[in-house]
Amino acid sequence: MGRRYHSVRRLYRQPILRVLFALFLLCDTLHILNIYWTQAAARRSPPPPRNTRRIYIAAQHWNTARVLRERWNNSLVALIKELGIENVYVSIYESGSYDDTKDVLRELDATLGELQVKRTISLSDVSHKDEITKQPGDHGWIKIPSGDIALRRIPFLANLRNQVLQPLETLSSQGHLYDTVLFLNDVVFTPQDVLRLLDTNGGSYGAACSLDFSNPPYFYDTFALRDSNGHEAVMQTWPYFRSYTSRYAAERLLPVPVASCWNGMVAMRSEPFLTPSPLRFRGIPDSLGSYHLEGSECCLIHADNPQSATRGVFLNPMVQVGYNGTAYDVVHSKSAEISAFGIYTAIWENRIRRWTTSPLFKESVVHSRVKKWRKKDPAREERGEFCLVNEMHVLHENGWRHV
Ligand SMILES: *[C@@H]1O[C@H](CO)[C@@H](O)[C@H](O)[C@H]1NC(C)=O
Ligand SMILES: *[C@@H]1O[C@H](CO)[C@@H](O)[C@H](O)[C@H]1NC(C)=O
Repeated sequence: MGRRYHSVRRLYRQPILRVLFALFLLCDTLHILNIYWTQAAARRSPPPPRNTRRIYIAAQHWNTARVLRERWNNSLVALIKELGIENVYVSIYESGSYDDTKDVLRELDATLGELQVKRTISLSDVSHKDEITKQPGDHGWIKIPSGDIALRRIPFLANLRNQVLQPLETLSSQGHLYDTVLFLNDVVFTPQDVLRLLDTNGGSYGAACSLDFSNPPYFYDTFALRDSNGHEAVMQTWPYFRSYTSRYAAERLLPVPVASCWNGMVAMRSEPFLTPSPLRFRGIPDSLGSYHLEGSECCLIHADNPQSATRGVFLNPMVQVGYNGTAYDVVHSKSAEISAFGIYTAIWENRIRRWTTSPLFKESVVHSRVKKWRKKDPAREERGEFCLVNEMHVLHENGWRHV
């Protein structure tokens, strides 16, 4: 006890403060109930419309036999039937898996063949080991702190993703046009999830993403997700975001305007990939990476896509996918719906995190390195600064590591 406690009590006895406090509680409660009701309405929304688009499905696989067998292969077949076999082209690229991914993909290829699905399924024998023991080339290699020269992970991945896009260009030059590219990660999904994704924001977007879960309720891909102000998520659970615009939409389960997302499945319009200087996946320049910076190829693509500004990038919080069956089932169970009390605590956790932390420190480290890099040559430019983090990723035999 003591004087301070008394003065707090005395303050509280001031009628005006009591009224203000009661008003605040009332407004906050109404705010939270409003979110609760809006979410309930969103969950009752009608099912997404049937597909009317021509869709190029792009997927890249590496050591994914388990999820392929568990769900992905059959989901893909069900999806193609739902979208209409004549509306779909499938492009799958696999390389260097040391589990039996190739066998499952051969089996899938045979099934797609019986259904007369148009497709390119490439199985390559080039392994990570082959890649990293090559003679270092002009691009994609970097000097790591130990002094060794190592192969950067991101340009390597960007190259794989571009391989998956290759047939799109050939098809287009032959007059076979696909208006939408659907990128599918090695995730568990249903045809309904994809229809809902395609219908994001009434079907109007440059890119639309699902939300991915490996270990619910935490979303997975923090490396590629940036809110409408280009900041990282403030928390890995709902409502995720720092910026007002992104948070407002996420709280109400509306399409969330973001600067970048990838998170499991992504639908993008195909035109930017087919212009004379086409949009492609890339890493940041090696010279910039050597300042100990890295950015996801899946974020940089949004930074480079002219349609990000004109049509927008949206994360659809109603489309949730999982990296295995358990994760998928958990996020789709009745118990995953947040209660009014759960909303209350999550909203406050988000507020407290926003009020007590700032992205400025992390972002200024990145900014000052980019500035140093640009000073060396004024022609240097990096549009995707918001994608960058203070990391360096290099490939090794069984995967990749931080250095
Ligand atoms: C998917 O994999 C499972 C398990 O190996 C198999 O039973 C099923 O036939 C496969 N489906 C397709 C379409 O390849
Ligand atoms: C799914 O992934 C989670 C987290 O990685 C793991 O704990 C769980 O055992 C996995 N479930 C299955 C069926 O593999």
